[in-house]
Amino acid sequence: MSGKKKIGLFGLGCVGQGFYSLLTQANANLEIKKIVVKNPNKQRSVDQSLLSVSPEDILNDPEIDIVVELIDDSKFAFELLKKSLEKKKPLVTANKKMLAEHLEEIFWLQKRYNTPVLYEGAVCGSIPIIRNLEKHYAFDELHRVEGIFNGSTNYILTKMIEEKKDFASVLAEAQRLGFAESDPTLDVKGFDPKFKLAITMAHAFGIFIHPNQIVNIGVDKITEHDIRYARQQGCTIKLIAKAERVGDQIVGFVAPQFVPLESSLANIKNEYNAVSVTGASTGLQFLAGKGAGSLPTGLVVLSDVVAISQGDLYSYEKVRHADNLSFANEGLINICVSFREGEGIRPADFVEFIGGYQAGAFQSLNGWVSLKKLSNWSDRDSLSIIFNTGVNYKTTRSEKKQELTLV
Ligand code: HSE
Repeated sequence: MSGKKKIGLFGLGCVGQGFYSLLTQANANLEIKKIVVKNPNKQRSVDQSLLSVSPEDILNDPEIDIVVELIDDSKFAFELLKKSLEKKKPLVTANKKMLAEHLEEIFWLQKRYNTPVLYEGAVCGSIPIIRNLEKHYAFDELHRVEGIFNGSTNYILTKMIEEKKDFASVLAEAQRLGFAESDPTLDVKGFDPKFKLAITMAHAFGIFIHPNQIVNIGVDKITEHDIRYARQQGCTIKLIAKAERVGDQIVGFVAPQFVPLESSLANIKNEYNAVSVTGASTGLQFLAGKGAGSLPTGLVVLSDVVAISQGDLYSYEKVRHADNLSFANEGLINICVSFREGEGIRPADFVEFIGGYQAGAFQSLNGWVSLKKLSNWSDRDSLSIIFNTGVNYKTTRSEKKQELTLV
């Protein structure tokens, strides 16, 4: 008997391979006993005797201590999670869609089976944000968490803005480099950072918000016109995920935003991510690091496996104190909407219109729109929506007029 903890791994894609190679080189008290993959005949540099296509080879093996789930299919991943916990096998996952869609149930399942799930690799790649929210910020009342939560779109925007490359070619590069999801619309339309934001909100504010409730606007409609306009204002454009406490409400969005060039977030480039956390006691703290890729994410998964093998678990401290917090579904957002003539967008569509300008075939209008309008416009392929910098949300609730400044 080796005395090492035995691991069953589901999935050997980009992150799975990074995890496998790091684990096999690490001097950790861990060994992989079985790897379940869809296609065992694919060329891979792993010990072939470890491969199987049958999930039961992991789930029903009493010798396997820890399950690591790194597959693409979020529905099947949730089934694997439930079965692992039923079998009292702690699980490590990086599946942000599955986690975001089922986090509240996963919270209760962990309690019911007294078996933990860790998922640092699901949010911002190599940045240890969930662990820090859990441990470091557990007793700090947080006001705001915001940042760049998606490596692919940050890579795309960096290359489009700084190297004047076109969207399609840089998306292909992001895919080739292993940053993008296998369905890259999850990245470019802002779903992936929205899943990460939903997970982050549970640990930062203690509320479970289904991702369907959060507005997400992607980077796929950003044009040369928007980039020129950003430059004229001394800004760049970043896809920002943000959540902030406004009174007893939490406001959260994912959207492109004009970011002043002197801001810390403006200097986060390529596949790097960053998170700023603002708390009552700590003030503002800023974490940055690689947000995607085989080894950065594989390493975080390995850290989770080591932690879970030593009995670590999330305490969800904030969930215990979040009884009166709710998610804001009304309010006004300060945006710039750009479009070609003939789209039928008028100053009257804004609750407070600020101004507009025309450049060639494009028109841009600035002002405050309702969240409902924003949500409707976000579905229209012909509109490019970018949040303005500075104060860009205000509540419409009469009892509490509060504004918040982002970036
Ligand atoms: N597609 C994701 C990204 C991978 O680009 O950030 C890491 O979660």
